[in-house]
Amino acid sequence: MAILLISTSQSGDEWRAAMAELLPGVALRVWPDLGDPTEIDMALVWKAPAGALAALPNLRCVYSLGQGVDHLFVHGDLPAGVAVARLVDSSMRRQMSAYALAAVLRRHCRMAGYAALQAERRWESLDAHDPAETRVGVMGLGALGGDLARKLAALEFRVAGWSRTEKAIAGVETFAGRAALAAFLADRDIVCCLLPLTPETRGILNAETFAWMKKGAYLVNLARGGHVVEADLIAALRAGRLSGATLDVFETEPLPPSSPLWSEPGVTITPHISAVTLVRSCAPQVAENYRRLQAGEPLLNRVDPARGY
Ligand code: NDP
Ligand code: OXD
Repeated sequence: MAILLISTSQSGDEWRAAMAELLPGVALRVWPDLGDPTEIDMALVWKAPAGALAALPNLRCVYSLGQGVDHLFVHGDLPAGVAVARLVDSSMRRQMSAYALAAVLRRHCRMAGYAALQAERRWESLDAHDPAETRVGVMGLGALGGDLARKLAALEFRVAGWSRTEKAIAGVETFAGRAALAAFLADRDIVCCLLPLTPETRGILNAETFAWMKKGAYLVNLARGGHVVEADLIAALRAGRLSGATLDVFETEPLPPSSPLWSEPGVTITPHISAVTLVRSCAPQVAENYRRLQAGEPLLNRVDPARGY
């Protein structure tokens, strides 16, 4: 029995130490050192190279080391009949909501404007805004977006959320399905994207959907770069259709030094760090799913490959 870690960003030593404690007797191998590949029945994966899973004849579970699973489908080489699971982690939920709230509050309190005034030693007030009159939209109401929407509602923002299927969240106006997207986005002051990247959601933030938001709306994209048509975003910023954006994810990562986004006024960039996989928080659920796999019990946090999330 062995678990294979395939990731260039996660520490093999940390995962090995965590698994040794939680699953004594189960080896943790780190790709490309497979040992005997027939012993490997679970692969912990973040952005595996093409074909890496094909070398594992007894693989029974592919486990995404992120909450997002789009990386599993990039090469189209997910072995048929293998269970797919993903992390759903309380630390990532707290990290993501903290980051998103920081972006929303920074925009709401006009902190960038005050920083510019401070740089010029000017004591001036910008327009005041009441959270109860600030229309914040959260795209995706799952493990992360649902938590963010609840926390924004607790701060008394005027919150709406959009998902694929109907949801009911106290203090949040909810919209479901593609047909409701225009109504959801209408007049939004701030829009936070926490959708999975699927064929339905790729490019969903584009010239048309920016035009549905309030003129001067602010975008917070923490999900995947593929949700945003970057050329449309830049055009919308330059036209004043959007007033700014906080972006943690990009179509190409690392964001190339040549990208105009780096120096676009009003844009805040971070390097895909809004919610990081911490081994100490995530290892117990991996160990529990490995135990379930051996016992033939239903796995936690299963992913439906046909749905893409
Ligand atoms: P979940 O699967 O728990 O939630 C996804 C939500 O999106 C659900 O509410 C779902 O609707 C909704 N959704 C999916 N497809 C559509 C659609 N076509 N139209 C409308 N709504 C849709 O995902 P998580 O909350 O765990 O994570 C969201 C994403 O955040 C991840 O996929 C990943 O890309 C990103 N992420 C980014 C990180 C970072 O560091 N930047 C860290 C972690 C995650 P329904 O509820 O009806 O199914
Ligand atoms: C994730 C991520 O999906 O870190 O977990 O992007």
